[in-house]
Amino acid sequence: MSVLQVGLGERSYPITIEQGCLQGIATNLGATHSASRYCIITDDNVSGLYGEQLQEAIRSAGMDCDLLVFPHGEAHKHLVTVGLLLSQAAQKGLDRRSMIIALGGGVSGDIAGFVAATYMRGVPFIQIPTSLLAQVDSSVGGKTGVDIPEGKNLVGAFHQPLAVYIDPDVLSTLPRREYINGLAEVIKHGIIKDADYFQMLGEKFDQVMALDPEVLGELIQVSCRIKAEVVAADEQESNTRRILNFGHTIGHAVEAASDFQILHGFAVAIGMVACARISVLKGILGNDKLAAIISMIKRYGLPTEVPEDLDRDRIKSYLLTDKKRIGSKTSYILAVDIGEVIITEEVSDEEIDAVIGL
Ligand SMILES: NC(=O)c1ccc[n+]([C@@H]2O[C@H](COP(=O)([O-])OP(=O)(O)OC[C@H]3O[C@@H](n4cnc5c(N)ncnc54)[C@H](O)[C@@H]3O)[C@@H](O)[C@H]2O)c1
Ligand SMILES: [Zn+2]
Repeated sequence: MSVLQVGLGERSYPITIEQGCLQGIATNLGATHSASRYCIITDDNVSGLYGEQLQEAIRSAGMDCDLLVFPHGEAHKHLVTVGLLLSQAAQKGLDRRSMIIALGGGVSGDIAGFVAATYMRGVPFIQIPTSLLAQVDSSVGGKTGVDIPEGKNLVGAFHQPLAVYIDPDVLSTLPRREYINGLAEVIKHGIIKDADYFQMLGEKFDQVMALDPEVLGELIQVSCRIKAEVVAADEQESNTRRILNFGHTIGHAVEAASDFQILHGFAVAIGMVACARISVLKGILGNDKLAAIISMIKRYGLPTEVPEDLDRDRIKSYLLTDKKRIGSKTSYILAVDIGEVIITEEVSDEEIDAVIGL
């Protein structure tokens, strides 16, 4: 077992990473996170796999526990789902001393976290992430929210959980494509902060792909440590937290231009390579480092190029929308080495054209 701390002063919280910990959470819940009642929020895939079991365990431990389920998928990460869940929470009699348990992938975490942030102006919640992406990324950092037709994650709140419990064993039921999707963020962590970690991902490729428990535990731990450190230094993303967006500016545009047919991590992989290429064009990253990044991304089954049939003009128009929304120039994260990135606004349209393959 390993326990990391997200250092946010009074709102600091632990991330517990332990094989099989999902089984034992109910036993200590009353002591560690006492509440008038508990309310698990999850999607209809995870509910049958782990939600009902967890609800039963909490009830068996003598506590009241509701289970609220919504249909899985990004398409349901919107205000209607949140509205329904808020009503159900009220109907179940949740009060300000109730505790929400966000169980599932990033969609469940973002929705349940937003319900927790807004129900009665905020109730406590804990995160139990079950996808790799949620375990290494979305469950840590306190960003919650939903999509609106005008854009992804445009509505939300910062609401830090009281604790995060990560059980790597649950990844055994995660579809392979979703696992690879999460690995894109893992590779990102190596590139932005930790060259040794990047190297480890190369050396332990077979074990990572085989979900070797020891290697998986180490991987989740290092990724959570990196995310926690970045978040602790700049909780509200006014500056340095933006390095977590490496590959995301172009990635989001690719994702949107594909009408979300390309999964987030796959689009981010394309974005990371594009930004590494811009870094080489600018002469701040060596060609050997670019080659190492491309080879790692390819090896893990992730794409490195914008698909040929994807309309470049649409990608560029999404980049432009992004710029307008921010009300200033778009920020890009560029690599100066493996393990080190910089934040800059100095990326020209010509450089974008050159790397997205016009
Ligand atoms: N809040 C943040 O800081 C942050 C950061 C990154 C991403 N996100 C958000 O996270 C979301 C993506 O998260 P995701 O990739 O986990 O998507 P997701 O929650 O939709 O999960 C992917 C799929 O895997 C299923 N699933 C999850 N765990 C499973 C398990 N153990 N076994 C079997 N199936 C399982 C889900 O039901 C779903 O169908 C996006 O909405 C994104 O905006 C948020
Ligand atoms: Zn991401």
